[in-house]
Amino acid sequence: MSLSYVSAETQSRPTEPSVAADDVILTGDRPTGALHLGHYAGSLRSRLALQGQCAQTLLIADLQALTDTSGRAAHVAEHVVEVALDYLAIGIDPDQTTIAVQSSLGALSELTVLYLNLVTVARLERNPTVKAEMELRGFTRDIPAGFLCYPVSQAADITGFRATVVPVGEDQVPMIEQTNEIVRSVNRLAGSATLRECRALLTTTPRLPGVDGRKASKSLGNAIPLGATSEEIRRLVNAMYTDPGHVRASDPGRVEGNVVFAHLDAFDPDPAEVAELKRRYQHGGLGDVALKRRLEGVLEDVIAPIRARRAALARDRGYVMDVIREGSVRAEATTRAVLRDVRRVFALSP
Ligand code: TRP
Repeated sequence: MSLSYVSAETQSRPTEPSVAADDVILTGDRPTGALHLGHYAGSLRSRLALQGQCAQTLLIADLQALTDTSGRAAHVAEHVVEVALDYLAIGIDPDQTTIAVQSSLGALSELTVLYLNLVTVARLERNPTVKAEMELRGFTRDIPAGFLCYPVSQAADITGFRATVVPVGEDQVPMIEQTNEIVRSVNRLAGSATLRECRALLTTTPRLPGVDGRKASKSLGNAIPLGATSEEIRRLVNAMYTDPGHVRASDPGRVEGNVVFAHLDAFDPDPAEVAELKRRYQHGGLGDVALKRRLEGVLEDVIAPIRARRAALARDRGYVMDVIREGSVRAEATTRAVLRDVRRVFALSP
């Protein structure tokens, strides 16, 4: 399948740190909703830029999604295909990047069970990401055990692919630290370097805010989906938070915290012109309406090819299912081999 017509949008801006040819990249997404422009700016674009530079796997983490969404299991199952569609629509090439589904890889679950013996509840409760999520959801002792232990499952994901590089956002760094602790415990038990440590590859793009200035989230409806129609783009751009003090075009306006400029910074192909627009906006003399029309055009250029490709792929679900199935078969072989090594460390037969 030709990928050429999405290439104009895949210009890797800003430049991502490169990887070595023998690195192994693993990232994952919870299939809890359609991916949006925040994902695109923050991580999808860098996965495209890294594609082909070394081995790369994208894991659709449905089991991890169930740790906090078990009441919406059907929703998670449906979104496994939606996330795969999003990957393919942005230009992920299944010949270069393996797309696999977590729940189809039994070796990852077995690795999780073995690693659980190397981790204390106290350590899990100290994990800053788990701690923040517990507070957010109001969990104390009533936390589902699977939720508390999801960092261990994530360590299984990472080590199961012998990943050396994990491109993630800041909030996932504690997961990498906990993974490397488990790696060191396994290697100590083994008396040899059975598993490799990994490093986080932090995205250089600041987090893209939602249209209302809050954190972009599927459930808040404040994010722009990758498959957005022109009408949706217009509606969401019009709803964008700018500067409440900027009433008339002639008033000086604020650029900091201005959601329109955050999007222009992330997507406008002409940064010099954006700098000039910022200058005019701050000085007074540039209205929100003109600015929003520009952004609408910029986002249309980014989304239109993704939307077209997504629609075409959505009509060919059989192809998408084949991609997932073949990726998972490849991943099965990789993760089985790692499990064999780790079983040996625990004196289990191969
Ligand atoms: N925890 C990640 C998230 O919430 C998803 C994820 C699952 C992941 N397994 C992973 C990320 C392995 C990196 C590596 O987005």
